[in-house]
Amino acid sequence: MILITGASSGLGAALAKLYNADGETLLLSGRNQQRLSDVVGKMSGDVQSHPADLGDPADVAALLDGLEQVPDTVIHCAGSGYFGSIEEQDPQAINDLIQNNVISTIYLLRELVARYRTHKVNVVIVMSTAAQVAKAGESTYCAAKWAVKGLVESVRLELKGSPMKLIAVYPGGMATDFWTTSGKEMDTSSFMTADEAAMMLKQALIATEHGFVSDITINRN
Ligand SMILES: NC(=O)c1ccc[n+]([C@@H]2O[C@H](COP(=O)([O-])OP(=O)(O)OC[C@H]3O[C@@H](n4cnc5c(N)ncnc54)[C@H](OP(=O)(O)O)[C@@H]3O)[C@@H](O)[C@H]2O)c1
Repeated sequence: MILITGASSGLGAALAKLYNADGETLLLSGRNQQRLSDVVGKMSGDVQSHPADLGDPADVAALLDGLEQVPDTVIHCAGSGYFGSIEEQDPQAINDLIQNNVISTIYLLRELVARYRTHKVNVVIVMSTAAQVAKAGESTYCAAKWAVKGLVESVRLELKGSPMKLIAVYPGGMATDFWTTSGKEMDTSSFMTADEAAMMLKQALIATEHGFVSDITINRN
C-alpha cells in the first residue's frame, strides 16, 4: 500500500498513475478534493483519496488515521515554489512557502515516526536540487528545501536501527503546475515532464528493495 502526498498534480499524480498501472493499492492526498477526484477518476482498482492540508497537524493525523493498513511506502511530493530577489518577496507568500514545504514535512514525519517507526516503511521525501546548491533569485525556496534536508538527515539518525527508512529525492526542473502556482515565468520546454521524472524515480526506488538507497538525484538533460 502506497500513500502519495501532492498527488493531485505534477510528480505525485504521475507516480500515482504508474503505481496504479502496476495494480498497487493507493491512497492519494492533496488539499483540493476536486483535483484529487479528477486524478482518481482516470484510474481503476484500489485507489482512494483523502484531502489534507499537511500544514495543519489535525489534517495530517486524520490522513494517517484513514489508512486501513500500514503503508509499505509513503511518497511525499507535496510542496510549492516561490521565487524572486529577497527584497521583493512578500511576507505572506514566504509564510505559505515555509508552510507548504517545511512545516508540512515536519508534521508528516512526526506522525509517521510516531506510528510506524517499528515497521518496514520507506518514506520518500521529495525535495529539489535547490536543497543541494544555492540559487540566486530562489533564496527562500532554497532555505526551505535545505531545511527539509536537515530535517531528513536528523530524523534518519533518530531512526538508527529502525526498519523505517527515509529516502531523500532531489529532482531538477520538471514541467508541472509548480511554475504557474509559484508565479515565476519560466520556459519549461527543456525540463523533464512529470511522467519522465516519475518513471526515473519509480525505477530508482525498485533498488531500495535490495538495500538502503538513501539519496536519489534526478537531473534533467
Ligand atoms: N516542478 C519542478 O521544477 C520541481 C523541481 C524540483 C523539485 N520540485 C518539488 O517537487 C515536489 C512536487 O512538485 P510538482 O512539480 O509536482 O508541483 P505541483 O504540480 O505544483 O504539485 C504540488 C502538489 O503539492 C500539493 N500541496 C502543496 N501544498 C500542500 C499542502 N500544504 N498540503 C497538502 N498538499 C499540498 C498540491 O496539491 P493542492 O494544491 O491540491 O493542495 C499538489 O498536489 C514539490 O516538493 C516541489 O517543490 C519541483
